[in-house]
Parts: sequence; structure tokens; C-alpha cells
Amino acid sequence: MNFKEELQIRTKFAEDIIAGYLPKEEKYQKTIMEAMNYSMKSGGKRLRPIMMKECFGIFGGKGDIIYPFMAAIEMIHTYSLVHDDLPAMDNDEYRRGRKTTHVVFGEDMGILAGDALLNYAFETIGKAFIEKPYRESMGKAFALLAEKAGIYGMIGGQTVDVSAGTEEITIDKLTYIYELKTGALLEAAMMAGAVLADASEEQIIMVEKIAHDIGIAFQIQDDILDVTSTTKILGKPVHSDEKNRKTTYVSIIGLEKAKEEVRNLSQKALSRLETIIHKEVFLYRLIQYLIDREK
Ligand code: IPE
Ligand code: IPE
Ligand code: MG
Ligand code: MG
Ligand code: MG
Repeated sequence: MNFKEELQIRTKFAEDIIAGYLPKEEKYQKTIMEAMNYSMKSGGKRLRPIMMKECFGIFGGKGDIIYPFMAAIEMIHTYSLVHDDLPAMDNDEYRRGRKTTHVVFGEDMGILAGDALLNYAFETIGKAFIEKPYRESMGKAFALLAEKAGIYGMIGGQTVDVSAGTEEITIDKLTYIYELKTGALLEAAMMAGAVLADASEEQIIMVEKIAHDIGIAFQIQDDILDVTSTTKILGKPVHSDEKNRKTTYVSIIGLEKAKEEVRNLSQKALSRLETIIHKEVFLYRLIQYLIDREK
């Protein structure tokens, strides 16, 4: 099996897990479930749940305890996108190949669907506490997801991002934004996988460092694709950053240097990963693949 086929299998697996945790569309408030499911079912890459599960496996994790956490991280990530696209933020009309949630359901429902997905992520984990045999690692993973999604993580990063607005910012401040707005949820995903597999403190810190560099590289590549790709391939508008006059890695150091930075950061992550696992492992090849990802 080649890498693409292996990725497809893992994506389908994550899709199925996620689908199993989505809410039924019912009662007078049916619209909110429809809006949640619209954004969740519109086929993102599912990288965070995939990476979570790979880390779980690397550290010998077994069983289904990872499933509600896989669904939860994708709900949190999807909520961040639904809100990121709102008129008050990036004001974008396409996401994952379709009209954005607020365009289809209205701005009010866009806000509520984001809120609802964030809440539902923690409802999903909360239910697992009741339904599955209790393990200390569940509490740790829960706290990790909450913290990395919050003011010291993704929300913190989005705050600095939108506060900067069209202002020209230094590369240090920009890197800080990337660490938080994008890095934090990748860290949460990979670390939670390791935590649920009962990895050691030392190993979890190593996973955080690896995810940190992958996160920054991932956001720089997102900036690159905003300039070099097409809406058809990305499933979201290109030139969104230019439209909003955002400072990005590309606008500060240019396209070629930005690409070099993606390679360097990814290589750093791979070197660290080599101290834990063999190069044949899927996660290793996934990180290599992300360096030149086209979407
Ligand atoms: C988009 O994330 C937002 C960023 C953090 C750059 P993804 O590129 O993982 O989006 P989906 O989930 O595949 O739609
Ligand atoms: C957003 O970065 C990352 C989030 C935390 C949602 P961008 O604003 O560049 O993400 P896209 O390009 O809209 O996916
Ligand atoms: Mg944004
Ligand atoms: Mg955006
Ligand atoms: Mg972008």
C-alpha cells in the first residue's frame, strides 16, 4: 500500500468515528444541529484526529478510549474555522469546498454553531467519563484539550491575530500567533494521544515540541497556499490574507524563504521523532507529506 492509500484509510476511519458522535437533528432547535453537522460533515483533512490516533498507537495505546477524544478535537477545530470565517473575523464565504456555515445558516447560527461545537466536544468527552472505565489519563487529556483550545492556546492566538488587524507585525509576534492559533490544537491532538496511551512525562514533553514545530510549519504552508493554490484545490478562498491585508510569513520573508522555513521546521520535528520511532511509521511519513501538501 502506498502512502496516499494509507492516508485515505485513516481519513475514512476518522470520518466514521466522528460521524458516530455527531448530534441527531431534532426538536425545535433542529437548526443548530443541522448547522453543526453541515460544518462537520463537509470533509476536512481530519489531520488532528488522525495524528492523535497515531500518537496513541506509537506509545502502545489500545482500545476505544481515544475515539471520543478524536471526535472532540475535530469539533473544536471545526468550531474555530466556523468562527474564523465569520464577517467579524476573516469574512470568508467558502470552507471545505462549500459555502461557509454563516452564509448558509445566517450569522446568528454561525456564532451558535461554533459555540455548540465547542460545547459538544466537552459533552462528548464528559459522556466518556461516565460510559467508559475511568482512567486518570482521561482527566489529563480533557484538561489538555481545554487549555490548548483556550486563552493560552487557539483563542489566545486568534485574539492576537485579529487584534493585529492590518498592522505590520514583527516575525516574532507572528510566530507567537502561529504557535497559538494553529500550533496549540496540533499539540493538543498529539499530546492527548500520548497521554491516553500512558506515555511518560518526558515523552509527552517531546511530543509537544514535535507538534509545536509541525504547527508553525503547517500555518506557514497555509499562508503559502493562500498565495499559490486555487480555491478549487483548497476548498476555501485563496488570497484571503491579501484581502484582509494580513501580515504573514510570505509577506515578511517571501515565498521561497517561507518554503525553506516549512522544510526546516518539519525536519526539526522529524529529527526529534526519530529519537522515538522508526522512519517507516505512518506519522513520520505524514509529516514528510505535509511539507509539500497541496491542500
Ligand atoms: C485550517 O486547518 C486552519 C489552519 C489551522 C491553517 P486545516 O488545513 O487542517 O483545515 P481542514 O480541517 O482540512 O479543513
Ligand atoms: C486560522 O488561520 C487558524 C484558526 C485557528 C482557525 P487562517 O485564518 O489562516 O485559517 P484559514 O486560512 O482561514 O483556514
Ligand atoms: Mg484567520
Ligand atoms: Mg481564515
Ligand atoms: Mg489561511
